[in-house]
Amino acid sequence: MTIDWSNLGFSYIKTPWRFLATWKDGSWNEGELTEDNYLHIHEGSTALHYGQQCFEGLKAYRRKDGGINLFRPDENSKRMNRSAYRLRMPEVPEDFFLDAVKQVVKANQEYVPPYGSGATLYIRPLLIGVGENIGVSPAPEYIFTVFCMPVGPYFKGGLTPTNFIVSDYDRAAPNGTGAAKVGGNYAASLLPGYEAHQRKFSDCIYLDPETHTKIEEVGSANFFGITADNEFVTPKSPSILPSITKYSLLHLAQHSLGLTPVEGDVYLNELDRFVEAGACGTAAVISPIGGIQNGEDFHVFYSETEVGPQTKALYDQLTGIQFGDIAAPTGWIFDVPLK
Ligand code: PLP
Ligand code: COI
Repeated sequence: MTIDWSNLGFSYIKTPWRFLATWKDGSWNEGELTEDNYLHIHEGSTALHYGQQCFEGLKAYRRKDGGINLFRPDENSKRMNRSAYRLRMPEVPEDFFLDAVKQVVKANQEYVPPYGSGATLYIRPLLIGVGENIGVSPAPEYIFTVFCMPVGPYFKGGLTPTNFIVSDYDRAAPNGTGAAKVGGNYAASLLPGYEAHQRKFSDCIYLDPETHTKIEEVGSANFFGITADNEFVTPKSPSILPSITKYSLLHLAQHSLGLTPVEGDVYLNELDRFVEAGACGTAAVISPIGGIQNGEDFHVFYSETEVGPQTKALYDQLTGIQFGDIAAPTGWIFDVPLK
């Protein structure tokens, strides 16, 4: 295996082991690690026809002492179960989820990038409806699988700002599935994302589907802005994905940086209140937003080329905690036993 750890992007790399369990007749089997990276599923699987599937994204971080951290994986488990509930899929018990994640990381430990490379191991838990079916109804069987791969930055600038564009499309409906991490939301984002990329923007900014006046989130991350009077502001909406990174930053903004955390409305015609802005998420980490294109208007925040000081400070706090260099709030870090 030769991997250039410092120059990884966000692409699929096959690692040797993944976990796979099946649900049938009301319960999960114990699951196992397998080397097969293909799923063999029935042609009538609800995941294929009706989008009955949900997924998660979390990362493993190599510490300076060689150990491996997970960042708030219990929150991913809880969110996966909320997504599963929304689509009438069975719960994956939290202990089972955490054990599967740890087994996969341990089995693929040589793919966890070295401390200091800036890269991480991205872990993708996936829950899909499978088995014989054709009507619009929940599947008779389910597969829960967890696989992983080493990754670098999701937005190619990393900590260098990139630009985003306000989308005319909606990502989610007011009472739809926006808060669930389900594939349908991402399928709906492919055309808007393509159009944004064609115009050289990193991704779309979606507005609230009801009034189209407020920022909801980025296609693959939540949005935050920092005001001149030191507020850390993120949109509050029932149709955005409740980002674990965002909630962690709300906490760190207040307790480590002394900013005032605000979850509230972010009106598109009030972007002037922000001196810095960014996208945050597991894959995105903290990606500074240089500017936002909205129709004919292009609004620049701190700079199109330099990360702002508060965004950088938040990035250092967050990643310092994730890599084990800074003490974490209680319960945020899970060690992966490697013996
Ligand atoms: N919003 C969307 C649409 C996402 O896909 C993600 C990624 O998971 C996020 C926000 C960020 O969530 P988290 O911080 O839990 O990774
Ligand atoms: C994540 O940050 O884990 C995501 O799911 C974002 C994207 C890769 C879909």
